[in-house]
Amino acid sequence: MSSQSPNPLSAPIHILSLLKDLHKKSLDQEAQLAKRDNGKVFSDKIISDLEDQHQEQQQKHPNDSTSHSSTAAEFDALMLDKFIALDEDKCQFMYQLITAMGATNVVEAGTSFGVSTIYLALGVGRVKSATGKGGVVIATEKEKAKADVARGYWAQCGKVVEDEIDLRVGDLLETLRVDLPREIDLLLLDIWSALALPTLKTVLPRLRPGAVVLTDNTISSAKGYADLLAFLRNPENGFQNMTLPFTNGFEMSVYLPKS
Ligand SMILES: C[S@@+](CC[C@H](N)C(=O)[O-])C[C@H]1O[C@@H](n2cnc3c(N)ncnc32)[C@H](O)[C@@H]1O
Repeated sequence: MSSQSPNPLSAPIHILSLLKDLHKKSLDQEAQLAKRDNGKVFSDKIISDLEDQHQEQQQKHPNDSTSHSSTAAEFDALMLDKFIALDEDKCQFMYQLITAMGATNVVEAGTSFGVSTIYLALGVGRVKSATGKGGVVIATEKEKAKADVARGYWAQCGKVVEDEIDLRVGDLLETLRVDLPREIDLLLLDIWSALALPTLKTVLPRLRPGAVVLTDNTISSAKGYADLLAFLRNPENGFQNMTLPFTNGFEMSVYLPKS
C-alpha cells in the first residue's frame, strides 16, 4: 500500500513512535531470516515457506511422533524471539474496520510480542468511549516468554492499551474454550496456518451475524490454509469472502449465517 496513505490511528505520540520502532524491528528480523535462506524470499513469505516445510514434514511422517515433535520444537524455537508482526498497513486497516463496525469484542489468534494487539486495543478503546459499550480484546500466546515481552510493550503504551486486553497464555485451542464474550465482533487469525481452522471452529459459536474474520497471508500461505479457505468459501458455512490486495493477501470474511 502507498506510503502516501494517511494513517487513521488516533493515539498519543509515544505509542505511534513505539509502533514505528516495533514494525521496523519485525521487518529487520524477517530480512535476516530471508538472508538465512540465501535471500531467496523476503518478508512474510519466508515465514510461510518455513510453515509449509513444517507442515509437509508432518504430512510426510504422520505416524512419526518423534519427527513431529522435533520439527515442531525446531520451528517454535526459531520463532521464539521473532515478532512476525502483522504488516503496518494491515494493522491500520484493522483499526479502521473496528471503528467502522463499532467492534468492541475482539479475539486475536496469535499475539507474539503484541504489535497488532496495540491497534486492536486502541480501536476497541476508542469505540467503547464513543458508545459506552463494554468489550475486550482477547489476546492469545502460547509462549510465556513472548507474552511477557508483549506485556512490557503494552505497559509502555499505558492504560489506554493495557486496560483493554485480556491476554491468555497457553495453547489457544484450550484458552479460548472458556470465558468468551457472548458475541464476538472480530476475529484476527494471525497464527500458524494449521491452527487457523481449529481456532475458527472454537470461536465460531460466538461470532455475531456480521462479524468479520481477518486472516493473514492467504495468498502466500494458500497451501497451508487450504482447509480454512475451503471452509470459509463453502456457502453452507455462511461466510462472504474477499481477498484484500495487501502484500501476501489478507482475507476478509463476513459472517452472515442463514438463520
Ligand atoms: C504470526 S505471530 C503473531 C503476530 C502478532 N499478531 C503481531 O502482529 O504482532 C503467531 C504467534 O502465535 C503463537 N502461537 C503458535 N501456536 C499457538 C497456540 N497453539 N496457541 C497460542 N499461540 C500460538 C506463536 O508463538 C507466535 O508468536
